[in-house]
Amino acid sequence: MKIHSLGYIGVNSTDPSKWAAYGTNVLGMMDVSEALNGGDNVFLKMDDRPYRIFIEKSEQDSYQLSGWEVASPADFADAVQILESKGVNFERASAELIATRQVQDLVSFADPDGNKHEVYWGPISDFGQFASPVGIKEFITGDQGFGHTVLPTPDFDASLAFYEDVMGFDLSDLMKVRFTPDPAEPEKRLYFMHCNERHHSLAILECPMPTGCVHVMVEVDSVDEVGRAMDRMKAEGTKLTGTLGRHANDHMVSFYMASPSGFMIEYGAEGRTVDDWSRYSSFQSTVNSFWGHDFSVGHE
Ligand SMILES: [Fe+2]
Repeated sequence: MKIHSLGYIGVNSTDPSKWAAYGTNVLGMMDVSEALNGGDNVFLKMDDRPYRIFIEKSEQDSYQLSGWEVASPADFADAVQILESKGVNFERASAELIATRQVQDLVSFADPDGNKHEVYWGPISDFGQFASPVGIKEFITGDQGFGHTVLPTPDFDASLAFYEDVMGFDLSDLMKVRFTPDPAEPEKRLYFMHCNERHHSLAILECPMPTGCVHVMVEVDSVDEVGRAMDRMKAEGTKLTGTLGRHANDHMVSFYMASPSGFMIEYGAEGRTVDDWSRYSSFQSTVNSFWGHDFSVGHE
């Protein structure tokens, strides 16, 4: 299928009000829950779309799903046809779910590791202006989509085949990582994949993750905004989980922090885009970053 971009993410939370505070005071997004009749649920807006993150009241704190946008009804029909022909179990959305997501049509399915996805077309927008409560000018979205998500895929070969052959992602580049200095620890594959000019909208890590997600990245328009977010993180008592650094693959200058649902949020700027993927040569990097990104702070 021809995915245009990552459109939104869904989150489970035992206390969505924590996300309302975190989303506005730390991330700098708008809490539009009331306008969208969210009830106990929270909706966060970061651009001219009605929302990009929804948080549902739940028994658990975890990542819920990734919502992928296709550009047209024809691409949507094509996506459904591919799910059928590849024998993927999928569900057509009820009218109620379509109304909640504010799209034209939608299907739900999971990868071989159980990570949940939605594919939809035709988001509904009133183009209400984004007005950040902390004065952020803009998040980098548009044709690059929401940002990126990193999902746990212990059944790596099956999930990689799923993302390439069913969902149509292409490989950007890859890493093989260990979480301890012990050379006997088996390497875990970490593949970065693209569906538009953003270096990666999706990455998959050969490792289970109880919260259902490794991290989610959002991008602002300058390193100064990343620094201001670090100040807000500290002021609000949010835990830093990875120090400031610049990634070797997508060139993002970013830091990592805890979210109220257990997975990390990467907050970055200056991510590179690739206009012509046919000229891009995939590589394996043995380091995360040119400098920084010390994740040991997260274990302190
Ligand atoms: Fe990332």
